[in-house]
Amino acid sequence: MKSRVKNILKTEPADQAFTVCGWVRTKRDTGSFSFVEVNDGSCLSNLQIIADQSLPNYAADIKNISTGSSVVVHGILKASPAKGQAVELHAESLDVVGEADAEVYPLQKKRHTFEFLREISHLRPRTNALGAVARVRSRLSYAVHQFFQERRFVQVHTPIITTSDCEGAGEMFQVVTGQEKGTNDHFFGRSAGLTVSGQLQAEVYALALGDVYTFGPTFRAENSNTSRHLAEFWMIEPEMAFCDLQGNMKMAEEMLKYLLQDAMDNCPEDMQLFNNFIEKGLLKKLQTVVDKDFAHITYTEAVDRLCSCGKQFEYPVRWGIDLQSEHERYLTEEVFQRPLIVTDYPANIKPFYMRLSDDRKTVAAMDILVPGIGEIIGGSQREERLEVLLSRMVEAGINLDDYSWYTDLRRYGSVPHSGYGLGFERLVQFVTGMTNIREVIPFPRTPGSAPC
Ligand code: 4AD
Ligand code: MG
Repeated sequence: MKSRVKNILKTEPADQAFTVCGWVRTKRDTGSFSFVEVNDGSCLSNLQIIADQSLPNYAADIKNISTGSSVVVHGILKASPAKGQAVELHAESLDVVGEADAEVYPLQKKRHTFEFLREISHLRPRTNALGAVARVRSRLSYAVHQFFQERRFVQVHTPIITTSDCEGAGEMFQVVTGQEKGTNDHFFGRSAGLTVSGQLQAEVYALALGDVYTFGPTFRAENSNTSRHLAEFWMIEPEMAFCDLQGNMKMAEEMLKYLLQDAMDNCPEDMQLFNNFIEKGLLKKLQTVVDKDFAHITYTEAVDRLCSCGKQFEYPVRWGIDLQSEHERYLTEEVFQRPLIVTDYPANIKPFYMRLSDDRKTVAAMDILVPGIGEIIGGSQREERLEVLLSRMVEAGINLDDYSWYTDLRRYGSVPHSGYGLGFERLVQFVTGMTNIREVIPFPRTPGSAPC
């Protein structure tokens, strides 16, 4: 196994041999040797290399090393007299594997804006902030699986290509072959698209295996150029049989807290970077979220609060509208100042699958809103009563034949069941404090932009 800088930062530098493979961040020459800062991607910290002029390739290679070059360095770890690092590597050999022309390498020593870095998405993971985001994102992904696997949920790989539009919002990208363009000769026998949610298929497995989850890419052709929307994003969707809205909310809150704590426990160095440079007070904010109960409010109460608060919103509020980001953020940031679960939304602004309540006006829905972001989770108890579901589908203009597999679940052994979707990028945004969602996914896809 390759040696990694992450593993030696806290070790006692007992003159042990070590090899680092990485990319040069900076180089500084002093009289008889050079300091070379190398980052191997395993952690935020660079390893400082002391390269003495007695090395055979010192004049030919080492003196000319520039930022961005890749190197392999063998040497001996020693205690470092410098501040901020425990060890440094005294090079016995230093090989330049790949050069990077300093004249044109775009990542110079100065701080670059995130907007600029988006234009070089192939190089931006080599910066401190974007490297840290990548590591935290990876850890959160692992923690998601750990959370559900510990609770014996079964992971289901729901399809990416599908013929059903779960959210019914007409935001599906179509999937066509080069040949069938403009004809009715569909590859799948009917028109198909990229999934907007794995929920409907997850329900199939929940009604066989009990507790399941899916974690995969989802796609939405919505023309929203905001700091919280992507055309391709990842969603975590648990689905639980014999579970009502209460159980659903409990699971969602427990999961969010688990994931935040996990990131703080396992990525302390990267989280400190975000706390210092991206969002001051981030760690304290996250710890408070973990330690306190989430607030609860019904949609109707939320509308009352918004109407009577005296604040001017861009979108005026009345019962029956979908809450906009400005409303969500006002509630969670200013009124409650902590995560807020809004329940019982009007049936006519929510998809057909949500369970109709006894008032016949609202559904057993829940959205979780968090400060700085707004909606991070959307979920509901599902309509398990065949007749009610059918009439909701007819109302929504859905072709019942296309969804017979879904309605069959209510014909044969139907049970109350619930689930939710957590937008993975919004979670990574919340955990890292990054203000734009384009910074928390390696290659963001947004209207007008998919460069590689
Ligand atoms: O609220 P949504 O649309 O819910 C569903 O898709 C349900 N089928 C989930 C379920 O019950 N299994 O989306 C769920 C979450 C949102 O709360 C948000 O965090 C995220 O997905 N999301 C987006 N994230 C980034 N870009 C977009 N365009 C997003 N749309 C939704
Ligand atoms: Mg939603």
